Amino acid sequence: MLKQIWDRVSVRSYKPDAVADEVINEIIEAAFHAPTANNVRPWHVVVVRDADTRAHLAKVHQWAGFCADAPVVLAFCGDPEKSEHWWIEDCSAAVENAMIEAVNQGLGTCWIGCRGADGGDMSREDYVCSALNIPKHIRVLALVSLGYADGPAHPKQPGPMANVHDETW
Ligand SMILES: Cc1cc2nc3c(=O)[nH]c(=O)nc-3n(C[C@H](O)[C@H](O)[C@H](O)COP(=O)(O)O)c2cc1C
Repeated sequence: MLKQIWDRVSVRSYKPDAVADEVINEIIEAAFHAPTANNVRPWHVVVVRDADTRAHLAKVHQWAGFCADAPVVLAFCGDPEKSEHWWIEDCSAAVENAMIEAVNQGLGTCWIGCRGADGGDMSREDYVCSALNIPKHIRVLALVSLGYADGPAHPKQPGPMANVHDETW
């Protein structure tokens, strides 16, 4: 298995060290190399470094507090006017690519779900849109915290290989 896939775990404790702009750009370029339905590429990413804004985002819900400590938070957004049916899949693939490239750059990440409507409470998405001045027609898939991990990675559970079905279920 690709080492970066094996090594990726959710990081919720960060050193204060800044992440270089070039590194952030490489992570976003990796995100934008993801597959995308009909090659529409409906992705947008808001890069948040400002401490006050991160502290505000950290209050989006009770599982996002570490956004205040991560030096960078990326808001992954999609444009449903470009891809009504597939923006969620396209943005999810982009997030995963970003997380794998972050490991490659020696960084840790955590996916912070905040999508509204079917994915959860719409007020969370509205909260992020308002905090980041995101236009009304754009949807927010997730926040991703980014930074150098403070402490060792937690152990990973092995994959549920019993859930693999050979030829038929
Ligand atoms: C759609 C989605 C939403 C998530 N939302 C949160 C979240 O709000 N806060 C958080 O701390 N972790 C969140 N996670 C991370 C999961 O808790 C984590 O991936 C899972 O526990 C497995 O651990 P691992 O990432 O270390 O393998 C989310 C992950 C996904 C895929």
